[in-house]
Amino acid sequence: MNRREFLFVSGAALLLAGTGIGQAAARTKSVPLQNRQHRRLGNLEISAIGLGCLPMVGYYGGKYDKQKMIALIRQAYDLGVTFFDTAEVYGPHTSEKWVGEALKPVRHQVKIATKFGFGVEEGAPTALNSEPKHIRRAVEGSLKRLQTDYIDLLYQHRVDPKVPMEDVAGTIQKLIKEGKVLHWGLSEASAKSIRRAHAVCPLAAVQSEYSLIWRESENKIFATLEELGIGLVPYCPLGRALLTGIINENSRFAKGDRRATLPMFTPEALPNNMQIVRLVEKWAKRKNITSAQFALAWLLAQRDWIVPIPGTTNPAHLADFLKAANIHLSADELNEFEKDYAQIHLVGHRADPFTESQIDK
Ligand SMILES: NC(=O)c1ccc[n+]([C@@H]2O[C@H](COP(=O)([O-])OP(=O)(O)OC[C@H]3O[C@@H](n4cnc5c(N)ncnc54)[C@H](OP(=O)(O)O)[C@@H]3O)[C@@H](O)[C@H]2O)c1
Repeated sequence: MNRREFLFVSGAALLLAGTGIGQAAARTKSVPLQNRQHRRLGNLEISAIGLGCLPMVGYYGGKYDKQKMIALIRQAYDLGVTFFDTAEVYGPHTSEKWVGEALKPVRHQVKIATKFGFGVEEGAPTALNSEPKHIRRAVEGSLKRLQTDYIDLLYQHRVDPKVPMEDVAGTIQKLIKEGKVLHWGLSEASAKSIRRAHAVCPLAAVQSEYSLIWRESENKIFATLEELGIGLVPYCPLGRALLTGIINENSRFAKGDRRATLPMFTPEALPNNMQIVRLVEKWAKRKNITSAQFALAWLLAQRDWIVPIPGTTNPAHLADFLKAANIHLSADELNEFEKDYAQIHLVGHRADPFTESQIDK
């Protein structure tokens, strides 16, 4: 352990003592930092892998016990995760409440990201709403549910074509001056919107779907992010579990599971799309790691300003994918993988037409 790690570990142990979180770690004065790599999104420093807290509220079907999910979030912290992703619309509200309760004892040691942008407060959770008045209402609600007086990273969930980006950025700028928001970002924004927002109030991060099943970001926004020094937070980095190898050509998704509505997961598309599952399996075997670890290690290897936020409801899956932070893929390996990747062809869009219609082009 080097000096920096020692200071981090012993400091974390002291801070944890008596909080009820990570007590085993505090007793032994060391935190098992499997996920000890840190990265930056703009000026925001966080663990190289964050935790997506959406599946816990049944996004992929199922009902999960609140106490078990709170324990899972705390397990992530004990394993070194300091970056947690939620949104007002997840539940709605439930995810923010669970994240807030889970992280209250370590609030100042973690960074919480949440999002506004749908009309949840107005009873229209699928409609876009980034009116300045709405943003303020949404932020007040998020602060209450998260049991905090500041949001580390606040994203506009979707660009609202009815509200000029300058008005959104100006509203956030005021919230930053008031200390209610520390950093901000956009989700699924075009390069043009990113520039407009950044010119008024500098962005820390953009969150977009990016994984081995959906690589649109590379051509759409990478150059802009690199130029402006903005980080990328890939959502659905495990391809909604497809890349983990847990889904096969015969998998069918129940009503209420988000994947039941996605063209890439239909009974017609799945047999073809097993190509990427097999490719990731092949490389995972070669590296002696799991498929989930390979999928995340590949993302981390693309740029050092990329911080994926895989989601899970399962403690074993969490412990598995966090190990990706310590896996290295060499330039030769990445080039060879790219040649393999060029041989496969995926079918079916990543989103349903309504969802895609709300993506900023
Ligand atoms: N900005 C946006 O518009 C937007 C949209 C969607 C998501 N997000 C954010 O991005 C986060 C990540 O996306 P996501 O959670 O939807 O998708 P994801 O991370 O690509 O995949 C999550 C799925 O993978 C499974 N999984 C995880 N680890 C596994 C492992 N080691 N082995 C097998 N299966 C595994 C999980 O099932 P188990 O529960 O069984 O582990 C879960 O169903 C979300 O939680 C949310 O915070 C943002």
